[in-house]
This record gives sequence, C-alpha cells and structure tokens, in this order.
Amino acid sequence: MFTFGFNKKKEKIRAALEVPKHIAIIMDGNGRWAKKRLQPRVMGHKAGMDALQIVTKAASDMGVRVLTVYAFSTENWTRPEKEVKFIMNLPVEFYDKYVPELHANNVKIQMIGDHCRLPEATKDALFKAEEKTKHNTGLILNFALNYGGRDELAQAMRMIAQDILDAKFNPGDIDEKVIADYLYTGVLPAKYRDPDLVIRTSGELRLSNFLPWQTAYSELYFTDIAWPDFDEKALQAAILEYNRRHRRFGGI
Ligand code: FPP
Repeated sequence: MFTFGFNKKKEKIRAALEVPKHIAIIMDGNGRWAKKRLQPRVMGHKAGMDALQIVTKAASDMGVRVLTVYAFSTENWTRPEKEVKFIMNLPVEFYDKYVPELHANNVKIQMIGDHCRLPEATKDALFKAEEKTKHNTGLILNFALNYGGRDELAQAMRMIAQDILDAKFNPGDIDEKVIADYLYTGVLPAKYRDPDLVIRTSGELRLSNFLPWQTAYSELYFTDIAWPDFDEKALQAAILEYNRRHRRFGGI
C-alpha cells in the first residue's frame, strides 16, 4: 500500500493505494515532443532519459519492485542512423549522469533483449551498471534494449529445442513455467516477471511487440502525455486508475 495526497475541490485527500509490483512503460512521444519545441527529435530522447530518472526515483519511493522500460525495440533499427546512434549512446550518458544516484537509492539495474547487436560502448555501459548495482535490493530498473516480443519467443524456442536435443528434458515437460524461465524476463524474480500495469505515453493505443507473453493479464493504461513530460504526478494518476480496475485473471 502506498499513501499519497491529492487535491479534490481544494481539499487534501489521502488515499491508500495498492502499488503495482511490476510496471512496464512504453516511453513514446519523444520525437513529437521535440518537434513541438522546434528541436531535433534526438532532444526528445535526451529529455526522455531525464524523465526516466525522475520516474524511476518516484517508482522506487512508492515501493514498485520492477520497472521495465522499452528503450529500443528490434524494429527501431529502421530509424535514421543518426537517431539510432544517439539512442545507443544514451546508456553511456545515463551511466555517468544517473547511475550513481540510483545506486545510492538501492536501485538494481538489469536488461532484457538481444544484446549481441548493440555497440560495444552501449553494452559496456549497461554491463557496468548491472555489475555496480547487482547487490542492491530495491527497485529493479529493467531496460528493454533491442527487445522484441516475437524475437524473445523465437530465441526461447531455440534454447528449449537445444536443451531437448541435449536430453535435459522431454517435450512433454514443457509447460508455462518452463517457457517463462526461458524468456528474457527469466532474469527477473519469478513472482515479478509479469507486469501488473503497462503504461504507454503519447496517445498510441497498442503494445508494439512489448512483452506479449508477460502482459497476458496486465492492466493497460494509455495517456496523451508525451514521455518527456511524464513525471511523478502522472505516475500517481496511472496508479490511481490501476486501483479502479478489478483484476479477475479469468475468474469472476
Ligand atoms: C519512442 O518515442 C522512444 C524511443 C524509441 C526511445 C526511448 C528512449 C528513451 C526515453 C531514453 C532511454 C534511456 C536510456 C538510458 C536508454 P518516439 O521517438 O517514437 O516518439 P514519436 O512517436 O513522437 O516519434
């Protein structure tokens, strides 16, 4: 439970809310945010990185256990080379500018996705962040970088097939738990692998190949706020809405 105050008819009300344990965010709208300000698109990504720091700290304070952020999809390579290069450099900047503060706040950094194709400097910054924070016990900030849900399922199937060939188990042993273990999110604590709440900013109403297996029963929240403008207040609004939902998981 998390308690926060908000104003309704100038009256301060305190509400006890259930905080989602795993929040996943599609950080959309950086380009449009920049364009509106007559700035190059990449300035939107830079502002998006700053927003990420603010939201991570807010989520950590509220008691969220895992925050998965869609930083770069397997489809984003089709963007102009300059933009891809800029985004790939953000983890390097993030490591120097923000990881020390997150580390001090007990945040643990992890990542999911296919990291083979990432530039060396990008991988290096992420590995360093993982290494530095690996003993932290607070919120897990989980970067989805070169992540695609279909790619994740394909690689899980390849690994399962290989392990069957290696006689580690039989096809009949494959159940939902085995599959979940082989997905990229298998690196997360088992009880927090599936997001309780998925937030997508900037008005688009789709999931864009983000965690298709894991979001089977997630609550979806869409907001028109562009990602660089998303802040603690916006996160609280999403959690408030989450608390209005009745999660039945197929039951009644
Ligand atoms: C989508 O907005 C956003 C991205 C593809 C990149 C998101 C990356 C960040 C917010 C920075 C993350 C930080 C680190 C350290 C990796 P868009 O460009 O599609 O926006 P548009 O729909 O307005 O064009």
